Amino acid sequence: MACLARFLVVCLSLVMILAVARLPSPAEAMGLPQPPPNLNFTIAVEGVVWCNTCRYAGYVKSMDSSPLPNAAALLQCRRGDDGRVLSVWNTTDADGYFLIQADWQSTPFKSKDCMVFVPVSPVRGCSVAVIPRRKGATLKFRRFVPVSRDELQARYSAGNFTFAPKDPAKC
Ligand SMILES: *[C@@H]1O[C@H](CO)[C@@H](O)[C@H](O)[C@H]1NC(C)=O
Ligand SMILES: *[C@@H]1O[C@H](CO)[C@@H](O)[C@H](O)[C@H]1NC(C)=O
Ligand SMILES: *[C@@H]1O[C@H](CO)[C@@H](O)[C@H](O)[C@H]1NC(C)=O
Repeated sequence: MACLARFLVVCLSLVMILAVARLPSPAEAMGLPQPPPNLNFTIAVEGVVWCNTCRYAGYVKSMDSSPLPNAAALLQCRRGDDGRVLSVWNTTDADGYFLIQADWQSTPFKSKDCMVFVPVSPVRGCSVAVIPRRKGATLKFRRFVPVSRDELQARYSAGNFTFAPKDPAKC
């Protein structure tokens, strides 16, 4: 009995020492990683521009659409409080894909401050904007990409931009 009591006392004091030595923060206690104070990241957004129904190079039968190269895409961000504006352009490649990588000027903006536009089709025969119609697309977060030792990029998707011909006979 005395032996067990002494064992318990030793255990209890060990627990006390450990508890005092290291009081974990609530986040640590729940096993969550601690975000660095002042996390800065740049904004990048990707998307794809299509022509519905016309059969150009790279035509995808399942979508009945062809990718549109050389389409200019615009990332535009605007802050309500100070009116600060950011505009960055890039163009689509042969697969209709664009990637707009903004620099450090994008760090003060939140994704909801930003929209992506493909103002005009690069192809005269396929110029009617179908998706999104006029308002542009919002940014949906995809992943963080470490670009360099001191640049973390938040990579968003603007989705698909689809144009259609006025007259399918004149694609
Ligand atoms: C974050 O960016 C701001 C503005 O560019 C800069 O002043 C600040 O030092 C940066 N913080 C970190 C942790 O890089
Ligand atoms: C434009 O797109 C190319 C190819 O994806 C990319 O390497 C480049 O960083 C982009 N430039 C800007 C300003 O986003
Ligand atoms: C774009 O279209 C392709 C093919 O229909 C589809 O798989 C993909 O999910 C679409 N992307 C978005 C963001 O809607």
